[in-house]
Amino acid sequence: MTTRRPLIAGNWKMNGLQESGAVELALLQQRVTATRPAAEVVICPPATLAANFAVQVRGSGIGIGGQDCHVKASGAHTGDISAEMLADAGASHVIVGHSERRADHGETDGLVRTKAEAAHRAGLTAIICVGETLEQRDAGRTIEIVSGQVAGSVPEAATPANTVIAYEPVWAIGTGRTPTEDDIAAVHAAIRRRLADWLSQGADFRILYGGSVKPSNAKEILALKDVDGALVGGASLKAADFWPIVEAAG
Ligand code: PGA
Repeated sequence: MTTRRPLIAGNWKMNGLQESGAVELALLQQRVTATRPAAEVVICPPATLAANFAVQVRGSGIGIGGQDCHVKASGAHTGDISAEMLADAGASHVIVGHSERRADHGETDGLVRTKAEAAHRAGLTAIICVGETLEQRDAGRTIEIVSGQVAGSVPEAATPANTVIAYEPVWAIGTGRTPTEDDIAAVHAAIRRRLADWLSQGADFRILYGGSVKPSNAKEILALKDVDGALVGGASLKAADFWPIVEAAG
C-alpha cells in the first residue's frame, strides 16, 4: 500500500464573485506557499471563476476543480460544461455526483459513473460523492446505500490517481450536524472494503469525509482511520476558516 496524501477540497457551490473570490483565494495561497502543507489543497469554485483562479494559483500547489461536468466533450447541450472545458480552463479535478446534483437534477449512479469516465477522458481527477439521506440512516440502511452508490458510481477503470471518493451524509451537509466518529469510521471502512474487494488498488484510493466540516471538528474527523481528507462546503468560502482545516490534516 502506498501512503495516501490527504486531500482537502473546498466546494464553493453557487457562491463567489470575481473580486471577493480572488481575495479569499489569495489569502489561502499565501498560507499554502508559506507553509507547504502536508495535504493537497483543491478549490472548486463556480465555473465562472475557474479559469481566472487557475491562472491566479499557478505554481502555488493549489489545484482548481469543477463542481460538475457533462458526459460529452462538446455538443448541443445548452448550459452544460464538459470535462474537457474544465481541463482547458486549467482545472485538475471535478466533483461528480454531489448530493445536491443528485437531488436537484435527478442524477443517478449510472450517470455519475459516466461523468467520472468523462473526467478521466479529459485527464481530470474525479471526486465522486456518495452519502445516505436521514431517512435511509434512520432505517439502518447507511452501509447498504453507500456501498451501492460506490458500486454504481465508480468506473471499473478508476485508479487512485484519477479518482477520489467523498462520503457526504446528505443530512450533514450545511446543517452543522455530523455523524459520530464511530459512524464516520464505520462507513469509511465499508467503502474501503468495497473498493478493495473489487479493484486491485482499492486500498490506495483516498476517501474524504464531507458534511459540516469546520475548524472545530476537523482534527478529530481527519484523524480517523480511512479518512483521507475532507470535502468542505461552507467553511471553504473564507480562507480564515478553510486554512485551519488544511492544517488539521497534518
Ligand atoms: P458543508 O458542505 O461543508 O457546507 O456541509 C459540504 C459539501 O456539500 O460538499
